Amino acid sequence: MHQLQLSTSTGTTEIVVGELLSSRLQQLELEPILLIDENVLVQHHDLFEPFRTVIIPSGESHKTLQTVEALYRELVTLEADRSTLMVGVGGGLATDIAGFVASTFLRGTPFGFISTTLLGQVDASIGGKNGVNLEGYKNMLGTIRQPSFVWCDLSLLSTLDKREYVSGIAEVIKYGFIRDFSFMEYLEEHMDQLLKQNLGVLEHVVSTSATIKADVVQQDEKEADLRKMLNFGHTIGHAIERHKAILHGEAVGMGMLLAARLSHLQGLLSAPEVDRVEQMLLSAGLPAQMKLDPEEIYQNLRKDKKKRGEDVHFVLLKGLGNTSIRPFPLTELKSMIHDLC
Ligand SMILES: NC(=O)c1ccc[n+]([C@@H]2O[C@H](COP(=O)([O-])OP(=O)(O)OC[C@H]3O[C@@H](n4cnc5c(N)ncnc54)[C@H](O)[C@@H]3O)[C@@H](O)[C@H]2O)c1
Repeated sequence: MHQLQLSTSTGTTEIVVGELLSSRLQQLELEPILLIDENVLVQHHDLFEPFRTVIIPSGESHKTLQTVEALYRELVTLEADRSTLMVGVGGGLATDIAGFVASTFLRGTPFGFISTTLLGQVDASIGGKNGVNLEGYKNMLGTIRQPSFVWCDLSLLSTLDKREYVSGIAEVIKYGFIRDFSFMEYLEEHMDQLLKQNLGVLEHVVSTSATIKADVVQQDEKEADLRKMLNFGHTIGHAIERHKAILHGEAVGMGMLLAARLSHLQGLLSAPEVDRVEQMLLSAGLPAQMKLDPEEIYQNLRKDKKKRGEDVHFVLLKGLGNTSIRPFPLTELKSMIHDLC
């Protein structure tokens, strides 16, 4: 079992990585209400059924204010008050929604997470960003507030769909590329065991990833500077994700590859290093090739720019294990995207 702490201006989170952590629910001081992903409740009924539960419907289309309102109403029916401990149980979708509900219901109640997907354990549940989408724009509404605990229960991952699991590996790989060369080498050597969910490897991988994310968030909670590096692969990834029926990690994987090629065009990454990025994605079973329409990607990036009102900022790799953030005017990007696709 691994334990670490994340302390910021909005709170302190105790992050625990290990097996059978959900049994800790019985030892909590406050009586919890679980805000739980519907599939997780079905798969792990015996674990969570003894507690008061409010169900979060699965699927990104439910990440809306309508769902939030329905949850508020159920909490009123359950007579939740300021001392109720809300526990979000599920992947990134459930913890994003649960964190938002807990941060706004009665102007804020205590909350924690039990993270049940690999993506959630290494990324979404850590950092205090909670929220929902608005009219197709991802995470437009939300709060930054740290949960008091995040339990990354490795035993729950066994019921996760294989494709979802592999999608989470994309975020794991990202940490190696942007921040930790030796972790990247470890992943190159242990990818097989990671895919088989070997518990020793999984614990090392989840705790290292969580430590990197927590460290970055601790230094830059509000994304003024350092935290931006976590967006490596996400700028193009989001543009791909918007129009393709693919998972977040799959889109981020492609985004990382394109960003690595862009880094090469900028003279920041050598050709063999770009190959290494591609090989890593392939070894995880992530797509390294996709039929992409450059014009579509460009149009989506434009929409993103309209939303932010600035140049598109790209996180590039400056060698493996290091980043450099560069602003690109859209016009310049158009031809580069055509080159990359
Ligand atoms: N807050 C952040 O910093 C942050 C960072 C990254 C992603 N996110 C958000 O996370 C969301 C994606 O999260 P995700 O990839 O975890 O997907 P998800 O939460 O949608 O879960 C994926 C699927 O797996 C099911 N599931 C979850 N745990 C399971 C388990 N143990 N066994 C069986 N089935 C299980 C869910 O019902 C769902 O169908 C997106 O909404 C994204 O915006 C947030």
